Amino acid sequence: MDEKKGFYKVQNLELAAEGRKRIEWAESRMPVLTTLREKYRKTKPLKGFRIAGCLHVTKETAVLVKAFVEAGAEVSWSGCNPLSTQDDVAAALAEDGISIFAWHGMNVKEFYWCIEQTLRLKPNLTLDDGADLIFTIHNKHPELAVDTVIGGTEETTTGVHRLRAMAEAGALKYPVVAVNDAETKWDFDNVYGTGQSTIDGILRATSVLFAGKNVVVAGYGHCGRGVATRANGFGANTIITEVKPSAALKATLDGHRVMSMDEAAKIGDIFITATGVKNVIIARHFRVMRDGAIVCNAGHYDCEVNLVDLKRLTKRVREIRPNNEEYLLKNGRTIYVLAKGRLVNLAAAEGHPSEVMDMSFANQFMALLWLVDFFKKGKRLENKVYEIPKEQDEEI
Ligand code: NAI
Repeated sequence: MDEKKGFYKVQNLELAAEGRKRIEWAESRMPVLTTLREKYRKTKPLKGFRIAGCLHVTKETAVLVKAFVEAGAEVSWSGCNPLSTQDDVAAALAEDGISIFAWHGMNVKEFYWCIEQTLRLKPNLTLDDGADLIFTIHNKHPELAVDTVIGGTEETTTGVHRLRAMAEAGALKYPVVAVNDAETKWDFDNVYGTGQSTIDGILRATSVLFAGKNVVVAGYGHCGRGVATRANGFGANTIITEVKPSAALKATLDGHRVMSMDEAAKIGDIFITATGVKNVIIARHFRVMRDGAIVCNAGHYDCEVNLVDLKRLTKRVREIRPNNEEYLLKNGRTIYVLAKGRLVNLAAAEGHPSEVMDMSFANQFMALLWLVDFFKKGKRLENKVYEIPKEQDEEI
């Protein structure tokens, strides 16, 4: 581990050269964000602002971080998932002077330690993917929320749900922009990004043939729709499980079979959860699964597939391939779990393609500029969750 106390902690600085090439490749696919970067390089609207971010450390995130720095901000960063950090990218950022605390394979305690380190910067802007940074600030450093932070942004559906609940309870102490809900984010990143990269993750972890397989997708929202469409394109027989009648109807009209997880569990070959809700696949489902079934998750947290339940039914676990664990059940059947039930597209592949992250991160960039602009004009926003302004969506 390479560490400069209080400044960065990454896996191995020697990976920086590789990381830099990877970032350059992403940059070449991200015209919107790089145009914004060029536009604001000279005027430096973020000068004097300190941004703490908690979002997957990928090559695309590095392009965003560098855009913030070019616009004048000081930045401190941690990953928002223990398995999604690309160590070469983290090394490149550390070598370029970014305060970053992230490495692949950290444990949960280390995950929160990293968030704490980013708060040494005393940020006045926060950027979240899942709301763990905001929750840490509110629970452990409420003084920052009240006196220092002027606003924040949230990248994903689950984070927006958590923050809306917090705002409704009157507990949110600064304004947050729901970047996820922008049309140029939710309808592209979640659908096409998750669709492609989830299949990518499954293929890297298994190299199985999709054609002819029964692929069960739990949740037919933005992510689930994207995943099911792509699986279908590979020739899979797609089965959807849903709790919302209108979403189930859409799935039917789009040509997928719809049934309950109790039924689907018996016939599925590959299971992918994308609901943002816990306990979608539990003990009674594992008990009836076919021998050799593959189970993974594309939702934000690793709570959709209940691995505690699975372990109780299991005799032995071994890693059969990277990001692929074989559970030998007491009933003699085998179930394969990918990426320990964490986001399979980020843990087993590289996350979304740069082209969709370009749109999402252009939204992030402009949302922070929007918050700063308000602040500079001496105006005060309420402590609630804001939508992305329509004009911004259209400009992107
Ligand atoms: P969404 O709200 O558009 O869709 C979720 C769907 O799941 C809804 O239709 C809901 O009715 C359904 N659902 C809820 N409980 C269910 C259950 N028990 N069984 C079956 N269906 C159920 O949300 P979206 O945008 O699709 O996000 C889903 C999750 O994916 C969230 O946790 C989000 O944060 C995460 N996400 C992951 C990404 C990735 O890179 N893997 C990218 C973007 C979002």
